[in-house]
Amino acid sequence: MSLLVQNQGIQPIVWDAGVLRLLDQRELPLREVWVACHSAADVAAAIHGMAVRGAPAIGIAAAYGLALDAAAQRDYDDAERVLAQSRPTAVNLRWALQRMRGLGTTDAAALLQEAQRIHHEDLAQNLRMGELGAALIEPGSQVLTHCNTGALATGGHGTALGVIRSAWQQHKLAQVYNTETRPWLQGARLTAWELLRDGIPTKLIADGAAAHLMRSRKIDWVIVGADRIAANGDTANKIGTYALAIAARHHGARFMVVAPSGTFDPGCADGQAIPIEERSARELTEVQGKVIAPPGMQTWNPVFDVTPAGLIDAIVCERGVLQGDYAAGIQRLMG
Ligand code: MRU
Repeated sequence: MSLLVQNQGIQPIVWDAGVLRLLDQRELPLREVWVACHSAADVAAAIHGMAVRGAPAIGIAAAYGLALDAAAQRDYDDAERVLAQSRPTAVNLRWALQRMRGLGTTDAAALLQEAQRIHHEDLAQNLRMGELGAALIEPGSQVLTHCNTGALATGGHGTALGVIRSAWQQHKLAQVYNTETRPWLQGARLTAWELLRDGIPTKLIADGAAAHLMRSRKIDWVIVGADRIAANGDTANKIGTYALAIAARHHGARFMVVAPSGTFDPGCADGQAIPIEERSARELTEVQGKVIAPPGMQTWNPVFDVTPAGLIDAIVCERGVLQGDYAAGIQRLMG
């Protein structure tokens, strides 16, 4: 049975009679494989192994993970700990765990209800950000996006990709470009797949082609998501985002960050305080299991970078659009 498409498009996170089913993003776009999670430990392994990925989707899955362990009467603190350690950069994970703890109960039904609320709210937030972000885009625009920020990375519609979807529905987009997003190829495998399914015209480019693209064809907006936004607006996102922001500023393209309120971390004063995940060397030395680097090759594989607030033209959140003084704007929006 295909669980992939329900009423509101792609649904990669499905609660199915006491089991959490995750569409395995390691296998897309070639195969639709579902990972069944029966415990918080299963969910943590799926997050760490990137079966589920993208900041909001990680938070949603973690919330369901707590509900799974509560239903099996396993220890709440242990469940929370194993989930919290699964990936370090996306603050949505901690945000979701804190919100679940804020319920003040270990009752399985109450925790499941809250996880489902977080899941549904995320979709609503994305639809709102889609409207707000699309309002910044002029008809006939060409845009570039990075990584995968679509339905696969969220509760549906997407953050940056949600803005692109909404702008496309409003007939504002002439052309989308999406990067491959090395080394894990979120763009080539996942964003390309989502955009093609929706019939949105997109061209895949090598990450290294982005600056050349901005010089040779007019790009109006670079639109990206975020894994954590510091109190001053510095933004951690997929490795390569910072380079895109520098190139965009140099070539006169505007740079938009799209993220729900759960991605903001006012506890981080600036980008320096954001932990940057480093992943396995194999992500660089192998492609789809095939070794491509010489044996013994040393590597460095940070999978996120920080774009300074000064390179960002707009931050779109479901609570409003920020431009200019991000520190004041974030304080206002986050209360
Ligand atoms: O390592 P990933 O694939 O989890 O990284 C995802 C990103 O960097 C996304 O841009 C970010 O989480 C925003 S997703 C809506």
